[in-house]
Amino acid sequence: MTIIEEVSVPSPRDGDGGPLLEVRDLHVEFHTREGVVRAVNGVNYSVSAGETLAVLGESGSGKSVTAQAIMGILDMPPAKIPQGEIRFRGQDMLQMSGEERRKIRGRRIAMIFQDALSSLNPVLSVGYQLGEMFRVHHGMSKKDAKAKAIELMDRVKIPAAAARVNDYPHQFSGGMRQRIMIAMALALEPELIIADEPTTALDVTVQAQVMDLLAELQREYNMGLILITHDLGVVADVADKIAVMYAGRIVETAPVHELYKRPAHPYTRGLLDSIPRLDQKGQELYAIKGLPPNLLRIPTGCAFNPRCPKAQDICRTDVPALLPVTEQDGGELPGRASACHFWKETLHG
Ligand SMILES: Nc1ncnc2c1ncn2[C@@H]1O[C@H](COP(=O)(O)OP(=O)(O)O)[C@@H](O)[C@H]1O
Ligand code: SF4
Ligand SMILES: [Mg+2]
Repeated sequence: MTIIEEVSVPSPRDGDGGPLLEVRDLHVEFHTREGVVRAVNGVNYSVSAGETLAVLGESGSGKSVTAQAIMGILDMPPAKIPQGEIRFRGQDMLQMSGEERRKIRGRRIAMIFQDALSSLNPVLSVGYQLGEMFRVHHGMSKKDAKAKAIELMDRVKIPAAAARVNDYPHQFSGGMRQRIMIAMALALEPELIIADEPTTALDVTVQAQVMDLLAELQREYNMGLILITHDLGVVADVADKIAVMYAGRIVETAPVHELYKRPAHPYTRGLLDSIPRLDQKGQELYAIKGLPPNLLRIPTGCAFNPRCPKAQDICRTDVPALLPVTEQDGGELPGRASACHFWKETLHG
């Protein structure tokens, strides 16, 4: 006798409890005439459904290249991925066919770029561009697609959406255009959104509004969100956890509030000390000395050593691995790791 068991089919949104996206030991290099640019040198991070990961680092640290590798939009060549895994719901996307990846891109993982003007088509109305998502992917009629476009514009709080659906991108302010980009990304209800400096081009007050909107929608749709930024101030209120990137590596990960309170890496400490604070008005702002390395010639040992106030001899020879950090009594600090030989001095010192 066969027993037919009742199986509950999990919705793709529920997942299996594991991370939605897991990047493991990812390496990306660019083969150029000047030599090999090692843009990503062993990145590890993960994000779950309903979670926001902020990826923080100075310009040129490999944040965008990592995101482009996840989206599968790197030009190869000149880019090459010699090593690593990018697991989406457990499956390594680097092993998938082009066809399989296309099915994920835009539908299940969407991306928001910094510059809406260059991402939107200037000669097509925003309603047409939003509607296109529904016409192409869901075979909707023009009329239905337009109704959907208006609904989405409402969702991202564009005032008088129905009246503005036929307007062109240049007729909107920078903040409103960025909302349209968010609407485009949301159109197919992706499980993961990667937002690459989504508010960098905006005024400070508008930045906060757009960031709040993104956080609100992320919660509502229970999406994973990767928020790339060079500005720690912008992500503090919306991120759950932070991965700090330097010269193509993750140098520290931590839940957001713990990172603020007690960094475990001298680079993170430097970034925190260089944020203007209201209670320290008038005091001169700290700046990390020097510049990020040229990725054609990354320093040996810890890549941060030429700029690090704590550097010792070992820092110039041995690359510090990203390892879990603990309380002084050995107590666990879940989600925390640092790639510094002297994390103890930084965390507990
Ligand atoms: N197509 C390319 N060819 C050569 N080098 C590149 C290319 N794209 C990016 N890079 C290099 O990769 C490094 C990391 O870039 P990126 O990920 O854009 O930094 P960011 O952290 O500012 O987003 C930079 O040094 C950049 O010059
Ligand atoms: S490993 Fe050394 S150089 Fe690198 S951050 Fe730690 S103390 Fe500084
Ligand atoms: Mg970038």
